[in-house]
Amino acid sequence: MARYEVERSFLKSNFNQFKNIKTDKMKGVPQPIGVKPYDPNLRIISLPTINEDVLKKQGIYECIKDRRSNRLYSEESITLEELSYLLWATQCITGTNKAGMTFRTVPCSGATHSFETYLFIMKVDGLEKGIYRYLPIEHMLIFMGALEDIDKRLDAITLDQPFVPHFAKKAAVTFAWSTTPYRSEWKYDVSAHKKILIDVGHVCQNLYLAGESVDVGVCAIGIYDQEAVDNLFQLDGEEEFIIYLAAVGKKK
Ligand SMILES: Cc1cc2nc3c(=O)[nH]c(=O)nc-3n(C[C@H](O)[C@H](O)[C@H](O)COP(=O)(O)O)c2cc1C
Repeated sequence: MARYEVERSFLKSNFNQFKNIKTDKMKGVPQPIGVKPYDPNLRIISLPTINEDVLKKQGIYECIKDRRSNRLYSEESITLEELSYLLWATQCITGTNKAGMTFRTVPCSGATHSFETYLFIMKVDGLEKGIYRYLPIEHMLIFMGALEDIDKRLDAITLDQPFVPHFAKKAAVTFAWSTTPYRSEWKYDVSAHKKILIDVGHVCQNLYLAGESVDVGVCAIGIYDQEAVDNLFQLDGEEEFIIYLAAVGKKK
């Protein structure tokens, strides 16, 4: 069908077209900052240092073999150590180079890392229910606010789920990754958008495998209300918006 063909072109490499474009980087436009700034007066929460003791399964083979999307969660909380590990596995900065580029626990086209991690925290030991943002350099959290009806808000945001209705509201924590596309557009211009989608897949796959290694269930969420979730996290919906979510909870 014609409308499929139009959309399919997005999936293809447009490297030849890109070769004829002068990107903002080539024009000498300064590189955008790679990590969103934050107000240090907000409540900042330290996360436990990553420690292998948190692992229940050491072997990558077992984690890959056993990984499944898990949508049935127990009432049990996850620990702060487990949350710290999952955040580290998905977005923590583990190196920089002389040019100031960051390297993280996930690969990313041109190391442009366009993502920020927001969290709906419902059942994490020692943390108040509410919304949070992850600081990948400091490996800390910012408390963005308490939300008493957080499960209802998340349920509304995750719309009608086809497999297990309303599963996200029973999660212990739900990750919501935003993208700031210009971090990649600056370098890749019209080629950036396909790359951003591939990049975020790597992030969620690390969450799946890290979750499996601590016996925590994970389910990716691509069905969500764009405007509602952007509003909740105070994102403008243009320069930064949510691109993907994933629910996490102790397996039932
Ligand atoms: C991009 C993407 C979006 C997804 N969105 C949802 C979703 O909104 N709701 C849901 O229940 N599962 C969602 N899933 C999970 C898939 O349904 C699941 O991966 C698929 O059924 C295969 O099952 P498995 O992950 O257990 O192997 C999504 C997975 C991916 C990769």
